[in-house]
Amino acid sequence: MMNRMVRFLSVLLVGLGLLALVAYAVLSRTTRSWFEADLTLRSRLAVASARESLAAHWDTNQTKLSQTLADITRDERIMGAAACKATGELLASTDGFPGEFDCRKVLDLMRRDAPDSSAWSTTAELSSGPVHLSVTQVEGAVGSPGVVMLVHDLSFLGRRVATTRRFLVVAFFVLSLGAAVVTLLAARVAWRGWTLDLRRALTGAPSRELQPLVRDVRALAERLAQERRTEAQAGGWSPQRLRSTLTEHLQGERIVILANREPYIHEKAGDGVRVLHPASGLVTALEPVMRACSGVWVGHGSGSADRATVDASDRVRVPPGEESYLLRRVWLSEEEERGYYYGFSNEGLWPLCHVAHTRPIFRSEDFEHYVGVNRKFAEAVCAEVDVDDPIVLVQDYHFALAPKMIRAKLPRATIITFWHTPWPNAERIGICPWREELISGLLGSSVVGFHTQQHCNNFIDSVDAFVESRIDREANAVVQRARRTLVRPYPISIEWPVHWLSQVPTAADARTQVRQELGLAPDALIGVGIDRLDYTKGIEERLSAVDQLLERYPEYRGKFTFVQLAAPSRTKIANYQSLNERVEALAASINGKWASGSYQPIALLRSHHEPVTVFKYYRAANLCYVSSLHDGMNLVAKEFVAARDDEQGVLLLSQFTGAARDLTEALIVNPYDFRQASDALATALKMSGEEQRDRMRSMRRFVSEFNVYRWAGRMLVDAAELRRKERLSGRWSSGALGLRTVSA
Ligand code: F6P
Repeated sequence: MMNRMVRFLSVLLVGLGLLALVAYAVLSRTTRSWFEADLTLRSRLAVASARESLAAHWDTNQTKLSQTLADITRDERIMGAAACKATGELLASTDGFPGEFDCRKVLDLMRRDAPDSSAWSTTAELSSGPVHLSVTQVEGAVGSPGVVMLVHDLSFLGRRVATTRRFLVVAFFVLSLGAAVVTLLAARVAWRGWTLDLRRALTGAPSRELQPLVRDVRALAERLAQERRTEAQAGGWSPQRLRSTLTEHLQGERIVILANREPYIHEKAGDGVRVLHPASGLVTALEPVMRACSGVWVGHGSGSADRATVDASDRVRVPPGEESYLLRRVWLSEEEERGYYYGFSNEGLWPLCHVAHTRPIFRSEDFEHYVGVNRKFAEAVCAEVDVDDPIVLVQDYHFALAPKMIRAKLPRATIITFWHTPWPNAERIGICPWREELISGLLGSSVVGFHTQQHCNNFIDSVDAFVESRIDREANAVVQRARRTLVRPYPISIEWPVHWLSQVPTAADARTQVRQELGLAPDALIGVGIDRLDYTKGIEERLSAVDQLLERYPEYRGKFTFVQLAAPSRTKIANYQSLNERVEALAASINGKWASGSYQPIALLRSHHEPVTVFKYYRAANLCYVSSLHDGMNLVAKEFVAARDDEQGVLLLSQFTGAARDLTEALIVNPYDFRQASDALATALKMSGEEQRDRMRSMRRFVSEFNVYRWAGRMLVDAAELRRKERLSGRWSSGALGLRTVSA
């Protein structure tokens, strides 16, 4: 209300100001021309009243003529007068007549401007100031005709204009003040009336004008209440609810997930094999969905012991010890991996999709491998399905082409593709030489999901710019050859509760353990950052913010340690290798600057950490800083919240993550602004337990409700709705066909 008032008053004041300016311009021009016309008239009258005397002495008696001119100039504003013959010869002039007006020149000007007129006037700017010159013809009684020139002082006009301006300014202020006060009062009264009316309308009988509005509000409230009741009856989104959504809505028994990264990696360890859980947001989100739904996960077998652990069909049952779904491994040659994974996916698409100032590299041989590997995985998916209308979830930028390839083999499949990175604007997508192929490939899906509406809009704009299709903006869908692809935002999340937490110590124990493991003081304050070592994560910016914290808040020197868990990632790519070196050098230089005794401000732990360890660090931390330069969602932020069942700990979150839209109670920062980020670090370290609790409680409520089961459930429900509509429209066309057959 206040904002609206301020906006309204600003518009009013600017409007009135403009009006006053225009009024001032019009008024000063009009008054000037009035005064000039007035002076011309007065000059003529003055000459006319002295006409007889002028005629009597014209050309005959110069003394008397001068006297007559002096009589005319008695008016205080007339500076001087002069009499000139028509030939341009000066007959007489008064003392004050300005020398600048020469008879001959003035007569030439008069003949040029007003050749047939007996009088002429003009204004001029002399060294003494502005003047008005009026020239009137007179006839000498004896001798030749001529003119009388009268010069008026115009400086009074300037004074009057200044007075008008002063008056207008004062009038403007008074008027504005009056208008503002009246408007405020009127708005207050109207607002009170409106709210009273509305309140009465919502609780009792609405007035006629308000009836349609109240109807809409009641319908909306009823719908929301209904949704809440349904959610409450269903007990929120859980693995069970997701499973029943799958069977109820899609009559599906199982799903097939296609994702490059496998959820379990078997690695050789000494004589045995150990199972690794990769550091991947995609795996964090999808693995619980797979446990809930069962089915097959088709992924790249990248572990050194992967081949040794599969059956003859390249399958292994997972999770180890709690087997509930199948992992089907696809093998890639070194060459394929270099071209498809390191090359096109991670040197091309990854930097293309992230605004993190790393130039994408596109090589045609990489793209050829990308096409080949997409086909290989698409074939593996088709080999894993047991019906002709399976539900396939295609994941991420590694498989932009696969949906179209799967659709070609399984036209009735429900293909839901989720793009885990941001989708950039059309202009940026346009720099990829194979943009049309990528977009067309994705349009093989039934549903294409992104984290945010902005990414959906960017995708639809890219479709519009680069491929033939019809865009149904109202339904957020793309139609190609009568087949629809829905484009929807599905902000991804994590499982709730996180199953790893049962193996993780409490916050107090975790803190004690971490302090001991890292050799920190028993009262050390701890910050954590958990990432793959990737240039999109802003790790350098994060460490620089810690540096600034210690610079600007000396009280934290020797007390605060930032622990960065950095999982090596894509290490065959030069950019990642140099990032690794830069991060190491930066951590060393900050440590060199602030270390004292055994204290080191940065603990850089560059290795893979299993989820149980990661969650222990989340629990041990006073704060967690997620400083991504650009991130589709970022699940580290949500994991930190999930870990903190003690409702303590502060989350600092980059404004450039999708998560910043969900977790609004975090301290939202611009990671490029080290000063602001260091202030936020200090704020977090000083924050009272009560405020931490309020913020954490609210974020936990959000993540628990908007968990990954809901994310998957919403996509499945949308896909089911699309499938139902397609079935109905298919029935209608076969019916229509039947009728035609009968009538023929
Ligand atoms: O798009 C995001 C994402 O799929 C994350 O889930 C994951 O962290 C990363 O990209 C892929 O990492 P990797 O190359 O190790 O599979």
